[in-house]
Amino acid sequence: MKKIDTALDLQKELASERARKKSVGFVPTMGALHQGHLELVKRSAAENDVSVVSIFVNPTQFNDKNDLLKYPRTPDADCRLLEETVADSIVFVPAVEEIYPQPDTRQFAFGSLVTVMEGKFRPGHFNGVAQVVSRLFEIVAPDKAYFGEKDFQQLAVIRELVKQLNLPVQIVACPIVREKSGLAMSSRNARLTAVQREEAAIISQTLFESKRRKNNYPPESLKTWVTDRINAAPGFRIEYFDIVDGFTLQSIQKWEDTEYPVGCVAVFAGEIRLIDNIVYG
Ligand code: PAF
Repeated sequence: MKKIDTALDLQKELASERARKKSVGFVPTMGALHQGHLELVKRSAAENDVSVVSIFVNPTQFNDKNDLLKYPRTPDADCRLLEETVADSIVFVPAVEEIYPQPDTRQFAFGSLVTVMEGKFRPGHFNGVAQVVSRLFEIVAPDKAYFGEKDFQQLAVIRELVKQLNLPVQIVACPIVREKSGLAMSSRNARLTAVQREEAAIISQTLFESKRRKNNYPPESLKTWVTDRINAAPGFRIEYFDIVDGFTLQSIQKWEDTEYPVGCVAVFAGEIRLIDNIVYG
């Protein structure tokens, strides 16, 4: 594993790979790596000649300064995991000034994709994600980039970003990786107490059960059922649960409104905010 911390050094390294017609896969992360990230890295390694993993806690996507401060940072463990997973990967660990030599004042227009769910409750979040992802794409210029489906809305926004900027990168969506209990893997899980982590299984269990109930309930009733069930668990509070069209992210009223219905949830476990989703196929 090669660790690089400047954009210039990374670009030099990749230029020599490209000169030899090597394809480049890219996995952007904010570190605190878990099995979910490692699956993205493995997939990238299987599909490309060279894989770059970035570790950068992007300040511009945090609307809550406290969340930014408390975001888990485990650089040594991350490098060890990457070494064990894909030994010949390149890990890019830039400082803030490397990504933003000047403050990034760009404002992206994603319309109704960002007025709902995460966009509604975390104002400015997706603008920050678009800033960092476009900047990282500019530096790495990958052939393919890998993102987890847990961040369902983020994936839709990144696809729209790539379309708007006409970037020659293929976005590859990878399935949610879950803990044994069903809890979707997330760097934030590390901030849960052992008891919260165990009890947080209520989130995925409720989503799975809602899928089993789909044929008996219209979306509105299922939304109420999911919300009430999770809110009834002590210490857990739903921020939103919605059943949306997986392409437009707009709420649906009837199952026939879309062929791609997806239930998306954000839940507070104490002060830790978790997200998850389920495709109602
Ligand atoms: O999903 C994440 O970890 C981040 O939002 C990303 C895509 C690495 C951008 O900072």
